[in-house]
Amino acid sequence: MTDFSDVFDTEMVGRWAAPGRVNLIGEHTDYNDGFVFPMAIDRTTTITVGRRDDRLLRVASTFEDGLHEMSLDALDPEAMSGWSAYVFGIAWALGQKLPEVLGLPSAASALSGAMGLDIFVESSVPVGAGLSSSAALECAAAVCFAELWSLDVTRQFLASVGQLAENDAVGAPTGIMDQSASLLGQADSAVFLDCRSLDAEVIGLGFGVASLELLVIDTHVEHAHATGGYVERRASCEKGAALMGVPSLRDLDVDDLPRASSILDDVTFRRVRHILTENQRVLDTVRTLRTNGPGAIGPLLDASHVSMRDDFEISVPELDLAVATSQDAGAIGARMTGGGFGGAAIALVPTALRDAVSAAVLDAFAAADYREPTIFAVHAADGAHRVD
Ligand code: GLA
Repeated sequence: MTDFSDVFDTEMVGRWAAPGRVNLIGEHTDYNDGFVFPMAIDRTTTITVGRRDDRLLRVASTFEDGLHEMSLDALDPEAMSGWSAYVFGIAWALGQKLPEVLGLPSAASALSGAMGLDIFVESSVPVGAGLSSSAALECAAAVCFAELWSLDVTRQFLASVGQLAENDAVGAPTGIMDQSASLLGQADSAVFLDCRSLDAEVIGLGFGVASLELLVIDTHVEHAHATGGYVERRASCEKGAALMGVPSLRDLDVDDLPRASSILDDVTFRRVRHILTENQRVLDTVRTLRTNGPGAIGPLLDASHVSMRDDFEISVPELDLAVATSQDAGAIGARMTGGGFGGAAIALVPTALRDAVSAAVLDAFAAADYREPTIFAVHAADGAHRVD
């Protein structure tokens, strides 16, 4: 396999890694200023980096031949495309956001002292599975740039930089959950994040001690309308908030549902109901975890899936089958995870039933004539860090 020294002749100065994420619960709540509870996983994107004495950023990877380059003096989202936009986009977004936090006059001044870099990317985060391979790359680049360019910034700030890169350089109107998980995650813990205040609390999960295992079932379904569907759901949420007279759905809670049902059309009402009940389920999951342990959170995961399937309508038959089969085979809770319209489901299973649940799902997919899913266990892992 190709590596850094096959492509670049600069001297290697270090390696940084950032994980993908699984969202335990709290779906589509992030861009509604709500609550999420994701964890960083033991699948990472690693970048090996060399220092250049010009102002060029050059990137290459194991998953594509060739090299992409852009000067730090010509960072322009319009000129970015493909996977390299995740890396160039972080440099651009730092330039946009740094002047304010560091009290600098302009984007140009923010990166004026920054050196160029050669960056080689490799990853064990599956692409297209809804496990945030893009955030993993953005966050690896973000922690690397912050260190090499001596930027004194917090991880929450870097998460907002990642979100800006994703929104404006990549062009996906996503929230801040994925980057927050990849930057703030810790081993055996999930990140309870308030997406309005950006207050984050890292909460121990204790899956191992409770003899539980978290399985990811990657359905390999990638719907062409995933981006369109995401944009449309976001618009429905904004419409619901406007009709209810609040800046964001975070300003409502489940007690507002009767009023919502009398004001909103059926579809908008169901979109709003998903967000309000999902926010409540995140709070209930954190409370249940603390009081009764991880073995008690299953029904909340199950209810989240039903809400996404019936109210938010972002599931697909393959995800529904993965969830129902896991539950029947002994999972204590299961749901689709991520943006929806394909991707992966998660199932929280007693370790002793892990193989039985996997086998049942594989059988059910074969019987339904669906493409064979990939099933693997994930563990909550540390967020982005320097490797060596
Ligand atoms: C995608 C987005 C996140 C979030 C989820 C849905 O992963 O990147 O910001 O909105 O979908 O919860």
